[in-house]
This record gives sequence, structure tokens and C-alpha cells, in this order.
Amino acid sequence: MSDSPSLITQLIHHPYSPPDNWGAVPPGVFKASTVTFDNVAALRSRSWKSRDGYTYGLHGTPTTFTLEERLATLEGGRFCVLAPSGLNAIVMVNIALLKAGDEVLLPANVYGPSLEMARTLLADWGITHQLYDAMDAANLAARITPRTKLIWLEAAGSVTMEFPDLAGLVAVARAHGVLTALDNTWGAGLAFCAFDFAGGQGVDISMQALTKYPSGGADVLMGSAVTRDESLYHRLLLAHGRLGVGVGANDVELVLRSLPSIALRYHAHDATARSLARWLATQPVVTRVLHPALAGAPGHAWWAATCDAAAGLFSVLLDPALSGAQVDAFVDALRLFKIGFSWGGPVSLVVPYDLSSMRADRRALPGHLVRFSIGLEAAADLQADLAQALLQLA
Ligand SMILES: Cc1ncc(COP(=O)(O)O)c(C=O)c1O
Repeated sequence: MSDSPSLITQLIHHPYSPPDNWGAVPPGVFKASTVTFDNVAALRSRSWKSRDGYTYGLHGTPTTFTLEERLATLEGGRFCVLAPSGLNAIVMVNIALLKAGDEVLLPANVYGPSLEMARTLLADWGITHQLYDAMDAANLAARITPRTKLIWLEAAGSVTMEFPDLAGLVAVARAHGVLTALDNTWGAGLAFCAFDFAGGQGVDISMQALTKYPSGGADVLMGSAVTRDESLYHRLLLAHGRLGVGVGANDVELVLRSLPSIALRYHAHDATARSLARWLATQPVVTRVLHPALAGAPGHAWWAATCDAAAGLFSVLLDPALSGAQVDAFVDALRLFKIGFSWGGPVSLVVPYDLSSMRADRRALPGHLVRFSIGLEAAADLQADLAQALLQLA
């Protein structure tokens, strides 16, 4: 065995001290609203603003602290805060780092609800936003002003799956002294290290929807924000505590249970997704496959320079000559693929998207977009399902 085990081995052999005389693989699950103190002096010297001790269930229990430590390990970070959903982790980062008068920059292919938050809640609080082209670092540079306090990154971009020039974008942010936060749900800490990619560059904060791969069961909603920077961690912790954000120990237990198998599941999703994406690329009605690991996909070269794996998520563009009703009939004809949002669970999912309502430059990707989230079923069965549904379009 090498002197320094890989992060995934460290994740499985994470230090944990069970109660005296108790030996078992899983960590115990601790639940509490009230945390009791030994005496009044201990009560008076408590502080929820540090993680040195326990003050109240909302601010952390041994169970939430254990998951936070493991997620920090998975992502190659040092500190983590949990949130009750991925979207809530995004708002927590925004609240921690932005105030009235500031501006946040979002990639034009950002996760839709994150843009919705910027357009509504952030705007109401006097925080403006601009969109930038994640495939063009010069475009980002041109949008930065003295009011820019945070740049969100997403790799790959939502739905259209462009893999951005992460190194170029982070270099621009650094040069202007602006903080970066990455929606790392797709990478999950496995496709690349958010804090150390492309020659040691990295983002300041990596946010994940644990709802996807860390949960893996399609049964939990949770989010996280990880950082290597202690002062940023304290800003996140203050937002977390002041917002009253907490996660239930039963949900944390489910994620702790799934985490040791995340690498196996992620690579299985990846392998099946790539084989189906390649097969779909050979189908006459498929005009383009948007999967960053496939040559010719938007940002493939940046994916290849940054990643050594990919998630089980990709989109296809179907022939623009098809009618919307034909595309709906194709999706309805799928049997193993279920129609629904989210990804990272055992069951394959499919969603047709209307790009005209999502992207300003619709012409770049002509055709009907259908997104697939590949589950853990046998690849041959999924391919057969796609083949029979494609007959709807013949
Ligand atoms: C890229 C991305 N970020 C964040 C989220 C939000 O996660 P949650 O559903 O846990 O709020 C999602 C959910 O689909 C997502 O796809």
C-alpha cells in the first residue's frame, strides 16, 4: 500500500472514535435539539460560531460533523457546511458572500433555479447579477466591475452540458480579486478536484447537491459547501447559523451510508452513460450528443484537460424537422427511463427541455433537446429501451 492512500480510501477509512467498548463499521447516529451542558460555566462559554463543541442541534451534532468532515475529504477541501438542499447551499453561499450593492456573475448555462434566485430574491435585496459566457474567459473579464464580489462556475453547464474553461475563468477571477464558487454537483469531487485542477488552480468554494451522487438513492435532499479557506468557512458558518439551516440526522445517516460506494456508483453511471451517448450519436435522428467526454461536444478539450471521469448525465439534440409532439411521443415511449428531474439515483431519468425559454442564444444548439440521467441499470437494457422508443420517430 502506498504511504498516502487515495482520497476515496481515506473516505472509507475515515477516523472515527466509537463510544467505549463499541465496535462497528458505521458511525453512530446522534439526534438532538437540546444539547445539555455539564454546568452553567460551560453553558455561558458556549459559541455556535465555532465547531469546537456542541451548542444546539441546529448548529451541529456528531452525526452532521462526521458527514461534513467526510465531504471535505472527498472534495480535497478542509471545511464543510451542510444545507437542507443543493439549492439552499447556493443561497447560503450567496448570503454569506454578498450584500446590497454587490454584483454576482453567473454562467449563461447556470442551473435554472440559481438564476431564478438572482432575478428575484437577490434583486429584492439590492444584489444585481450578470450572465457571462462560460466558454470565454475574456467575456467573463469584460463583465467584472468593482461591484463584482462573487463569480459562480458550473462544470458541466446545466442541461446543455458545455464543459467550461475552468482554469481560464478562475485565473480571470483571481486576477481581479473576486471569489469563485463552483456548483460541483456534476463532478461530485470525483471527476476532478475543485481546489486543485489545471496546474494547482482551484475555486474558493465547492458547492454540491448531495441529493445526486452522494445520496445515490433518489430519496434525500441535501447540499454542501466546502472550502479550504478558514475565513471563508467562518463566513459560511455565520450564514448557516443565522439562517437557522439544519439537516435531519436520518437524512445525514442515509448519505453517510451511501458515501463509501460513491466512486463505484459514479464510475458505473459514467461508463453506461458514455456507451449510450456513443450509440445515440450513431442514430440518424440524433443530430448532436452533448456529453463533455465525447469528442466534438462543447468544451471537450477542457474536460479532457481537467477531468478523468464524467457523471452519468448527457443531452441529445434531435432533428429540428421533428415535431414537438413526436419528441414527446419518443419520451413517453421509454419504459425503463422515468420522466422526472434530478440525477444520480439508481433509476434512469429523461426530461425534454425547451431551450428557447432557457438560453438567450438559442441558435447555437438547434433541434429538440432531451436530457438523460443514466442510472445503474444494465447498459444493454437501456440501449434496447432507447431503440424501441426511437421507432416512434421512424
Ligand atoms: C447542477 C445542480 N445544482 C444544484 C441543484 C439543486 O439541488 P437540490 O435539488 O438538492 O436543491 C441541482 C438539482 O437538480 C442541480 O442539477
